[in-house]
Amino acid sequence: MSTPLQSVLHPAGPDAAIIAHMTWVLFGGGALIFVGVMALTALALRRTGRPVSPRLWILGAGVAFPVVVLSALLVWSTWRSSELTPQTSRGAMSIGVTAKMWWWEVRYHDPASGREVASANEIRIPVGKPVYLGLTSTDVIHSMWIPALNGKMDMVPGRVTGLTLHADKPGIYRGQCAEYCGEQHARMALHVVAMAPAEFEQWLAREAQPAKAPDNALIERGRAAFLEQRCQSCHTVRGVAEGARLGPDLTHVGGRTHIAAGTLRNHRGTLAGWILDPQAIKPGARMPAALDIDGESLHALAAYLEQLK
Ligand code: CUA
Repeated sequence: MSTPLQSVLHPAGPDAAIIAHMTWVLFGGGALIFVGVMALTALALRRTGRPVSPRLWILGAGVAFPVVVLSALLVWSTWRSSELTPQTSRGAMSIGVTAKMWWWEVRYHDPASGREVASANEIRIPVGKPVYLGLTSTDVIHSMWIPALNGKMDMVPGRVTGLTLHADKPGIYRGQCAEYCGEQHARMALHVVAMAPAEFEQWLAREAQPAKAPDNALIERGRAAFLEQRCQSCHTVRGVAEGARLGPDLTHVGGRTHIAAGTLRNHRGTLAGWILDPQAIKPGARMPAALDIDGESLHALAAYLEQLK
């Protein structure tokens, strides 16, 4: 797995490129003006002769210069902003994202079955076309920010806001909640996986399938442990236990790059550690610890979840 990119300075799509370009122009312009002011200050300190005309400096440098520069910037930035992809679902593929303390529920529409397919903490998109994210929240205000792909958008309870992602090249782009939302705000991350369109379609068709049936004793034992530990009170595994939406849908959890909202890489070891004591990793997370689980069941449960791809 390549190292996920989280950087405004390395845009991976047309919208992020426009934002990065505007940032550099503003930074460059600001730097030029700063150097000019410092040069004038140095000159003023050394100057001895006749005093300058205060009227000329106040009207010229204090009024005319900022009015001209700021007006030019307003016109230029309005024009550049109009080139950003419009925040609309019209003509774009739509994905629903609901922010929760402290993770992201992601819902796709599977064109083949017409069903909704739920996932979490990872958004998969095809490269080369705009994908519209319909954003909302079920508790407090969060904010979606994937710096390599676009700017920020608030996620507000009871409202739907939109953000368009448009990736030029395949890759994994890290995102981050950008609005303080409580104890685990800092560990509310997500990953966007941009894939070739054909690969994306195959992935979505697989994702729409129910969880695969156990094919050996360890996995069978793991599925039994899932039910014994009452994981299904909060988590759905389609084909095993459905309907719960309090925690992430785990039907294909093994196929995700990370768990716990971008906090841990996803493998059997981290899955077991997370199940045993999530409070040691993300204090305040809504998932209770399972400290009474025996070692054999924990191993089987982690192995079961790992192979749900
Ligand atoms: Cu969610 Cu900060």
